[in-house]
Amino acid sequence: MSQFRYQAGVLSAEDVQLDRIADEVGTPFYCYSTAEIEQNYADFVEAFGGQDASVCYAVKANSNLAVINTLVQLGAGADVVSEGELRRALKAGADPRKVVFSGVGKTREELNYALDQNILQINVESASELDMLSGIAASRGQEVEIALRVNPDVDAGTHAKITTGTRSSKFGISIKDGAQVFARAADLPGVKPVSLALHIGSQLTELAPFEVAFRTLADLTQALRDNGHTIDRLDLGGGLGVTYDDERPPAVGDYAAMIKRTVGHLGCSLILEPGRFLVANAGLLVSRVVHVKAGDARPIIVVDAAMNDLARPALYDAFHAILTVREAADGSTMRENDVVGPICESSDTFARSVTLPSLVTGDLLVFSSAGAYGAVMASTYNTRRLVPEVMVRGSAFAVVRSRPDFDDIFALESVPQWRQQPSTRGAA
Ligand code: LLP
Repeated sequence: MSQFRYQAGVLSAEDVQLDRIADEVGTPFYCYSTAEIEQNYADFVEAFGGQDASVCYAVKANSNLAVINTLVQLGAGADVVSEGELRRALKAGADPRKVVFSGVGKTREELNYALDQNILQINVESASELDMLSGIAASRGQEVEIALRVNPDVDAGTHAKITTGTRSSKFGISIKDGAQVFARAADLPGVKPVSLALHIGSQLTELAPFEVAFRTLADLTQALRDNGHTIDRLDLGGGLGVTYDDERPPAVGDYAAMIKRTVGHLGCSLILEPGRFLVANAGLLVSRVVHVKAGDARPIIVVDAAMNDLARPALYDAFHAILTVREAADGSTMRENDVVGPICESSDTFARSVTLPSLVTGDLLVFSSAGAYGAVMASTYNTRRLVPEVMVRGSAFAVVRSRPDFDDIFALESVPQWRQQPSTRGAA
């Protein structure tokens, strides 16, 4: 059951009415439910009961320290893709021995930092990265366990911008080169290949592409074992979809059963990197109506959240159900509206023709299912302050990222010296 429900006619997160938070924190803001995150995690872990599987939460989905900490305290590790994410995960309490580091462009500095922290595994995505990492680790006298991320050439059937496992994508090592690169890795100093990894995309709503990819990975594992290599760990990435609208993603139990069917016979320990599944439906973005404009076809509701706060509709035409914080009274007139943000480009449109009760300036709206890839993708475009984040637990709430002041935005910028003096250029 969702933790976002109407209570006494007001949409609430657990036992906190959202208008109360809006009054205290101002709008827009993200709001997360602890109970929902806990439930999602419990569902995921339960589905894998009986399998030797660890959850490395894909921190990129929502890297707020409070969110990571919630999952870490439940036992999760972390999948990180940058030094910044690694620092966050550790700061939030993650055990370095439960951290895997993925990413197609890790730099020397990032690899050095990961080696400093003695994390569990680095997922190597190219022969070039393999050479770089081997050189760095060997010069430090270290040997790091690595996975080779392979690209199985499977179309995940999701949005093109979040598909990662096709041949033409930038991710991983082509499956046909996997055996040869693994064999090379086994001969290099500083690295110990123990695992294969893949991730074919995000928001998958069918099991079939996963299944093809995992079978391909199982075949490669077997082939490498036949060549005398030891592989005792597989990293199966993330990607399990959630319901935003009317999608019917596979049940997590079916996903887990399919994994057992496809790779279970290998006896490997498994790493899973769910992001969206754990947090998407545990968060929403709360925003206030600034203006109601007469539009050509229908009213245009201008809200105080924008594409810089929630980029998904602009970037991927993503759907986020829009609800009013005050429950519409029975029999109230509903009408179609366009809902837009204030940013100076047409892509700052959240939804067209959305049916809502009649709205006036000051009303509160929410964009649902915004806990994943929401706040983490926010920017200060149009010099808008980064959107704050609030976490609810029962009847308590805490601001877990506050709204910066404008001076915080300007603090890192400066006007060069030469602009501050009268120009002498061109003087005789
Ligand atoms: N592991 C790796 C290596 C990944 O690249 C990703 C996501 C995940 C795990 C987690 O996938 P999830 O379980 O969350 O689907 N910004 C986009 C999504 C980008 C996903 C990138 N990689 C969006 O808003 O839909």
